[in-house]
Amino acid sequence: MTHDRRPIMAGNWKMHHTHLDAIQVVQKLSYQLDEKTYGAVDVVVCPTFTALRSVQTTLDADRIPIRLGAQNVHWEETGAFTGEISPLMLQKLNVSYVIVGHSERRELFGETDETVNKKVHAVFAHGMTPIMCVGETLEEREAGETESKVSGQVRGGLAKVKAEQAAELVIAYEPIWAIGTGKTATSADANETIGQIRAVVRDLYGAPTANAVRIQYGGSVKPGNIAELMAQEEIDGALVGGASLDPDDFTRIIRYRD
Ligand code: PGA
Repeated sequence: MTHDRRPIMAGNWKMHHTHLDAIQVVQKLSYQLDEKTYGAVDVVVCPTFTALRSVQTTLDADRIPIRLGAQNVHWEETGAFTGEISPLMLQKLNVSYVIVGHSERRELFGETDETVNKKVHAVFAHGMTPIMCVGETLEEREAGETESKVSGQVRGGLAKVKAEQAAELVIAYEPIWAIGTGKTATSADANETIGQIRAVVRDLYGAPTANAVRIQYGGSVKPGNIAELMAQEEIDGALVGGASLDPDDFTRIIRYRD
């Protein structure tokens, strides 16, 4: 390895697990992780909003060094935005990471690079770290448009973001055709696109920032493919959906070195 970026494994639970299930899963996860693992890898769980408080108190009470993440946020602190959750509300729950611009939110809920950018600013302004998602559709990949698509998403999402903030950022490269489908990008393809994303960050902010920013792969990550993905030079971790719902599978992903 020619860099010292710390691996980051984040579980995106999507609309799964009630708060009761979430407490159980996080406890089971913690039984299987030890100081050695926490010392080597950042571990994040992103439950639904209704489970955040319960998971936070579980982590605090048992002093479990798993970081709390949220799956979405609004960019305003307060106001007449029925059904939305503000960054201040997440900050007060000790949320460390916020997934921004997941493809499901872009495709199903109308998020654009512009709203993603507002959310990225709001997350940083409240002392949290965005996990900013980018990725191409199958049609775009087949048309040879992967690089232009993800590059546009990175540039749009990072508009007016300062270099020192960008260095803290986590980007998740998630090819849309690989999410929840059982199809994974080959580790070489994922590595290539992540390298292109890093090149965009280098172009925007210079080499030190590009070398610091952590870029995850996401899309059908499983215990059986994580080691190969993590062996790639550019891949700094994973954003895991389905396989993170099961504490045993997620443990095997987090402990990919064992
Ligand atoms: P998956 O989801 O691991 O179930 O493919 C990944 C994601 O959408 O973050």
